[in-house]
Amino acid sequence: MTILDIIEKKRDKQELSKQEIEYFIKGYTEGTIADYQAAALVMAIFINGMTKEETTNLTLAMANSGEILDVLGVFGDRPKKHPKIIVDKHSTGGVGDKVSLILLPLVASCGVPVAKMSGRGLGFTGGTVDKLESIPGYKTGIDINSFIQNVENIGISMISQTLNLAPADKKIYALRDSISCVESIPLIASSIMSKKIASGANKIVLDVTVGSGAFMKDIEQASKLAKAMIEIGELANRETVCVLTNMDEPLGYAVGNTLEIKEAVEALKGNMPEDVKQVVLELGAHMIKLAKVTDNIEDAKEILIQKIENGEAFNKFVELVENQGGDTSYLTDLDKFEKAKYIEPVYSQKSGYIQKINAETIGKLACSLGAGRIRKEDKIDMAVGIILNKKVGNYVEKGDCLGYIHTNNENTLEEAKQTLLKTIKIEEQEKEPIKTILKTIS
Ligand code: URA
Repeated sequence: MTILDIIEKKRDKQELSKQEIEYFIKGYTEGTIADYQAAALVMAIFINGMTKEETTNLTLAMANSGEILDVLGVFGDRPKKHPKIIVDKHSTGGVGDKVSLILLPLVASCGVPVAKMSGRGLGFTGGTVDKLESIPGYKTGIDINSFIQNVENIGISMISQTLNLAPADKKIYALRDSISCVESIPLIASSIMSKKIASGANKIVLDVTVGSGAFMKDIEQASKLAKAMIEIGELANRETVCVLTNMDEPLGYAVGNTLEIKEAVEALKGNMPEDVKQVVLELGAHMIKLAKVTDNIEDAKEILIQKIENGEAFNKFVELVENQGGDTSYLTDLDKFEKAKYIEPVYSQKSGYIQKINAETIGKLACSLGAGRIRKEDKIDMAVGIILNKKVGNYVEKGDCLGYIHTNNENTLEEAKQTLLKTIKIEEQEKEPIKTILKTIS
């Protein structure tokens, strides 16, 4: 068997065997298969798809490309500070999606251990790891022992994929990002589930985003992706719940790394935009229900609200940041974060109701300002991005401020302002706010 045979087979719409998929994953992880060959195969998968069996085999091969962390087994050998249920969460990606930053300390403050391996920005969507790294000193690349130790000591750790966990996904993820092969059900399902299986949680809640700022543009496609991931979860003995959430407009008001950290900190202090709150409470309620804190979703939401109101969720975030080397003085004084050189308002040119704020356009605009990567080796500018002032359904007067561009590049500032202005559609007729929680599949 050679990689050329495998590329040819997928190019010609044939089904790959388990052995062929394992051969590709092993060869690409070890470096005997070149980037350009992997790119050709990934593009063929993107175009021609995969059967359920191929997707499962791809997921398991990727999960087995490194260590499978036995967090629970490790806990079993030590004094048990935490129950034997580890719940993990992952999002299929979005624009302004700072949910993990708020949700995970919140869930950990309820006594449910959180061992979270997050991703970097992908395509036009942001990544939690990039956002965390905008806190000076925060280390996302700690070793496995420290990761487990942190979960045991303070009930939470949030890291990047720098450990030897699903290394095949790490390579394929970056490759997909640089060859426009992100929006594919088998590639997303295998990417997410391989990481979840490798990082050791036994219960998983997935935020499957839908809309212009998501990789799945409609509920039908998102439901297919959700079902594919639930099936893989079942096979791997991981109970999985998917919540479909709306990503037609950016989530919350901030888009960009430092800007989102600040919004997340405010949210943990109780100032949560309504759409962010709905997603956090819905996912959080499923997480603490799976962890058997309560068996009722509405009670679970009450518990979560209390943890925000009594400050325990924010304190847990501070503890997490401190434990991973971050400077917590930035969390208590948000003005310490470095700001972009130019912070320019964009004013409405007409009165009316906001009909649409295209999240994909905003995500791409944030990337072009430097908040995301165009090539996999690009460095991110943490300070730049967009702050929106309005949501779909809001009424605005001509001359009202619609939002701000935060940039360090004076040359592209005017173009960025025009892009923002054009992507916010305003008409005379009233418009309902966007429904945030669409559906739960388990
Ligand atoms: N998140 C991931 O980890 N992988 C994807 O492919 C998309 C979102």
